[in-house]
Amino acid sequence: MNMLTDEEKSWIDSLWGKLDQKLSRASISAYDKIPYTTVDGVYDDVKKDGIIRWTNGFWPGLMWLMYVGTGKDCYKKTARHAEELLDEAFKTPQMLHHDVGFMWHISSGVNYRLTKDKCAESRNYLAAQLLAARYNPECGFICAWNGKDMCGWTIVDSMMNLPLLYWASEEYGDPRYRKIAEKHADWVIKKHLREDGSLYHIVCSDPDTGEFIEYRPGGGYDVNGSWSRGHGWALYGFTLSYIHTKEIRYLETAEKIATYVAAELEKNGMLPVVDFKAPEKPCDSTAGAILACGFIELAKATENYKYLNTALKLIKVLEENFCDWSEEEQSVLQHGVESYFPEERQKGHHIIYGDYYFAEAVYKLKGFEPLFW
Ligand code: GLY
Repeated sequence: MNMLTDEEKSWIDSLWGKLDQKLSRASISAYDKIPYTTVDGVYDDVKKDGIIRWTNGFWPGLMWLMYVGTGKDCYKKTARHAEELLDEAFKTPQMLHHDVGFMWHISSGVNYRLTKDKCAESRNYLAAQLLAARYNPECGFICAWNGKDMCGWTIVDSMMNLPLLYWASEEYGDPRYRKIAEKHADWVIKKHLREDGSLYHIVCSDPDTGEFIEYRPGGGYDVNGSWSRGHGWALYGFTLSYIHTKEIRYLETAEKIATYVAAELEKNGMLPVVDFKAPEKPCDSTAGAILACGFIELAKATENYKYLNTALKLIKVLEENFCDWSEEEQSVLQHGVESYFPEERQKGHHIIYGDYYFAEAVYKLKGFEPLFW
């Protein structure tokens, strides 16, 4: 991105170099794993007891980011192996959820776009079918989770899964997937977005009629909270919907969310607190990394430097407060927090998507292509 000053460029170069130093070693030692976190500095492995976790695409996605930016084979080898390990999840499709975009679009989807690998294409195609099949045509939304009590639940996280559907329409020339994605994005605007630019995390509706039933707190502190990670999904997700469709309402929505989030971040010294409206202010570093990616992509879409500036400030805060570059720790970004729940919000730890989005933000600022989503 040529909007950076020379000083900013050399800072970003040094971050990229440090990421490569740490992750090239990890790509070899964690070759046969699908990590979620680290324990005593070492990546854990969830392939046996957590293959359907929504987070399982981030390790191969991270490896592909580093491969594109460095050309090193160790990353490509590990990314491809993780993709094969992930095939186990397709054996229980009834257990899968709307987060199949997180799982496959940045693993198989990226592999296919880079290498034209046919197996990777099949995996991403299958994931797109599974996501499209969750669409409720009467009401116009994609159902998030499984179970008869949850057929009418929608969540803002879904915005990051829509690029899988845009890809399927672009790749196969079939508008159905894009239309489903647009209907769902419109649902999120209508049902989740508040007047001030913040969002409800979970909306429960009648799956027969679409009639509103209730809000649920989800990752935030209560139904009226503003869960920062969810705002990251929405800010970045609406920007991506704009990039793929060129529909101006998605860009306007992304800017509305961005304005709200930027003001909240400023109030807290740019620290990504778990919930902007909560009384207690623990941080979730992963929310900061996701938001940084959204702000960078929004800056590119609008050519507006203020969004880039917010992203740079966020990355600086993440670097100063949450990055561990020591050899004793395999991961980089510490202090991810899964939710505001009391037992969660006090125990920050590494979470794989923290490193993924931190690396993706640096990758973008280095000017690397392609866009992974
Ligand atoms: N499903 C995405 C999240 O929990 O943030």
